[in-house]
Amino acid sequence: MTRTLLIDNIGELTTNDESLGAGLGGRLADAAVVIEGDRVAWVGPASQAPAADERFDAAGRAVLPGWVDSHTHMVFAGDRTAEFEARMAGESYAAGGINVTVEATRAATDEALAANLERLVAEARRDGTTTMETKTGYGLTVADELRSARVAALHADAVTFLGAHVVPAGADPADYLDLVTGEMLDAVAPHVSAVDVFCETGAFDDEQTARILSSATAKGLATRVHGNQLGHGPGTRLAVEHGSLSVDHLGFLTDADIEALAGSWEHGQRGTAAGATGTARGTVATVLPACDLSTRMPLAPARKLLDAGAVVAIASNCNPGTSYTSSMSFCVATAVLQMGLTIQEAVRAATLGGAIALGMHEDGWVDPRGAIQPRVGVVSPGARADLQLLDAPSVTHLAYRPGMRLTGAVWRAGSRVG
Ligand code: NIG
Repeated sequence: MTRTLLIDNIGELTTNDESLGAGLGGRLADAAVVIEGDRVAWVGPASQAPAADERFDAAGRAVLPGWVDSHTHMVFAGDRTAEFEARMAGESYAAGGINVTVEATRAATDEALAANLERLVAEARRDGTTTMETKTGYGLTVADELRSARVAALHADAVTFLGAHVVPAGADPADYLDLVTGEMLDAVAPHVSAVDVFCETGAFDDEQTARILSSATAKGLATRVHGNQLGHGPGTRLAVEHGSLSVDHLGFLTDADIEALAGSWEHGQRGTAAGATGTARGTVATVLPACDLSTRMPLAPARKLLDAGAVVAIASNCNPGTSYTSSMSFCVATAVLQMGLTIQEAVRAATLGGAIALGMHEDGWVDPRGAIQPRVGVVSPGARADLQLLDAPSVTHLAYRPGMRLTGAVWRAGSRVG
C-alpha cells in the first residue's frame, strides 16, 4: 500500500496552478496538501482535507513548490578564491578562468568529482531545491566530458553537454569545433538531454554557435545558450532562431533581443525548429542574479523581459568561477530587491519558470537514470511531490528577510530531504 501524508494548517500555499488558487502563483490560505507516494494527490482547503496515514502540521507557515534550478555547473574540482578576490579588487571577469577549473577537474578522480557534486546537491536541498540541472564543461576532452556527464547523472535531474564552454588551452579552435560537433558529441549524447554553447567573445562566435546548435538538433537533443553575459552579441537571437529551450545570463540585451524572446512564445518558435522538442512554445529567458552580482556585471533586465511577455526563469548558476552559491532563496530575494520583480513573479520564475526551461513542466520527462517522471514546479494533483515549507507565514519573507535561513522542511518526490 502506498503511504499517504497530509500536510495541513498551511497558512499560505503557492501552487503555481491558477485553477487551484488566487492570483499569480495560484495561492490558497488555510490550505492542505495530501502526498501519495511520490506524487501530490490532493490540494485544497484544510477544512476539507481527506484523512491520511501520517500528518505534518505546518503551523500556519507557507508552503510552495521546491526550487527548480535550471542552470548549474556542479561537476568540477578546485577553487577560484584568488580570481574572486582579484575581481572584487577591480579586475573584470573573462572566460579565461574556466581553464583553471578545467585543469583541476581533469586531475581529479571520478570519486572526488562525485563527492563534490553530492556535497553541492546536499547544500542546495537544504535551501529548498528539489530539481537541478547540471552541465559538463570543465573536462573538454572526449574522455573528461564523458565522465563529467556520467558523474552528473548520479545526482542531477537533467544533464547538459557543455563541451562548447571555451576552446581548451593549447587546442586549435577549428579542430576543437570539429571535435565538439563530432566525436565528443557522439560520445556524450546518450548521457545528456541537451547541448549548451557559451556564445561570447573569448568563447564561441556567431557561426560556431550556429554550427554547434545545429549539430545538437540533428542528434535529437534540445539546446541552450549562454548568451549576452559579457556584452551585446548574437546569443539570444541564435537561441530563439534555433528553438532553444532557454538562453541564460542576459545582462546585455537590446530591445530586439527582448522582443525576440517574447515573440518566441507568440509565434510557436519551439517545435518548429528542426528536432526541437516539447509542447511549450518558446525560449525561456533565464536570469542568474547571483552571477551578475559576483561578476559585478549589469543585472539582467528581468522586469523588462516580463513586461514584454517573455517567460523568465531564475537559476543559481552554481559554479566555482562566477557564482559559487546554489541558494535559490538568495537569487529570489535579489530578483525582488534589485531586479524589480514582485515576490510572486520571482517565486514563479524560480519554480515553474525553471521547469519550463527544462521541459519538466509536463508529465513524462525522463531523468538521467532513465526513469519517467511527473511534472515539477507546481503543487497540483499528479505532479511530483516536491515542496518546501518556510519558517515564515508567506513567501514575501524570502525578500523581506533576505539572508535569513527560512527553509523549514523540504520534500522531494514525497520523501523528506531537508
Ligand atoms: O555560466 N559563462 C560561462 N560559464 C560559467 C562560468 C564558468 C566559469 O567561469 O568557471 C557561467 O558563468
